Amino acid sequence: MNFIRFSDLCAQGQVRGRRVFIRADLNVPQDDAGRITEDTRIRASVPCIQMALDAGAAVMVTSHLGRPTEGQFTAQDSLAPVAQRLGELLGRKVPLLANWVGGVQVAPGELVMLENCRVNKGEKKNAPELAQQLGALCDIFVHDAFGTAHRAEGTTYGIAQFAPVACAGPLLAAEMDAISQALSAPKRPLVAIVAGSKVSTKLTILQSLAAKVDQLIVGGGIANTFMLAAGLPIGKSLAEPDLLEQARAVIAAMKARGAEVPIPTDVVVAKTFAADAPAAIKKASEVEADDLILDIGPETTARLAAQLRAAGTIVWNGPVGVFEFDAFAKGTEGIARAIAQSPAFSIAGGGDTLAAIAKYGIEKDVGYISTGGGAFLEVLEGKTLPAFEILHKRAGG
Ligand code: 3PG
Repeated sequence: MNFIRFSDLCAQGQVRGRRVFIRADLNVPQDDAGRITEDTRIRASVPCIQMALDAGAAVMVTSHLGRPTEGQFTAQDSLAPVAQRLGELLGRKVPLLANWVGGVQVAPGELVMLENCRVNKGEKKNAPELAQQLGALCDIFVHDAFGTAHRAEGTTYGIAQFAPVACAGPLLAAEMDAISQALSAPKRPLVAIVAGSKVSTKLTILQSLAAKVDQLIVGGGIANTFMLAAGLPIGKSLAEPDLLEQARAVIAAMKARGAEVPIPTDVVVAKTFAADAPAAIKKASEVEADDLILDIGPETTARLAAQLRAAGTIVWNGPVGVFEFDAFAKGTEGIARAIAQSPAFSIAGGGDTLAAIAKYGIEKDVGYISTGGGAFLEVLEGKTLPAFEILHKRAGG
């Protein structure tokens, strides 16, 4: 997809002395006292901000934090802890400005943070008057917030309509590049892992990927529904019997293309959902009425690991078992280690997936780890995200 890269504008000297407005995703988790508990997104925003400062721009950066009510700013909505943390990372003070829509004073070489953009009236619905005001604040708008790329709001879409130049920051550009490498022109075989508790929440993803991938590995409650659809017993495991038809349709669509949904042949079961529940490995055909399936078995893990090691491209969303409990973590660990060992280009995203990657320490062995939650899922659904659409349009289509 064609879009203007901020790094190119910097390299061409087009940024010096310009007013640059960066939309980052600094929506980080906080504890009850407002302390930041995880700062990945702040660290991920640093390269773009540093790039703008190094290029001699007057830099404004903003983000949403949480889901505040528009027009009603409260202390919990403040980006103050984020400005503080960003200041530590950049080694400079980051002043925080409130009520900034009407105008921002910032000189070349300076950086200011603009308070939580979601308290501005009209942000959520991208009101045209707000969008025009935002566009007038800058010479160059830089979208660097992949986590909000699926939202068409004032600071993620409206400003891109009206700013003189609208481009992608390095983080957004890297996400766009990784996504197109994985899904537009993938090296085959293309293997996707889609796991999670419910088919219903990921049905559109399964249907979209069924038309593209060579193997569609399902895990968690989703796999249980597929096992049921394949005629296997699943005991009292989590599943959605009302979605059996949809699961069968996905299996049939894959089969018709000569592709496959590998159904587990063995599983790890327990009688209760607990970390210390005794675990037993069973053939998939021998699951009993009072069994709960909590992981894939060793035979299935080995088969899937071999497919992953032979893949050209891997897309990973979701752990295949209850990996938080050690007795039911071997399937997810086996999948994670196979992805790490595979020569395939791999892209992973989603909160639980990132937790599994961290647990097994394979960050460096995954081709690209997405910073998006909902945005990453919408990409897998085959949607063109509003951020990509508007930046493409502003680059001349
Ligand atoms: C996220 O945390 O996924 C992003 O920051 C988007 O937040 P939102 O779902 O409130 O738009």
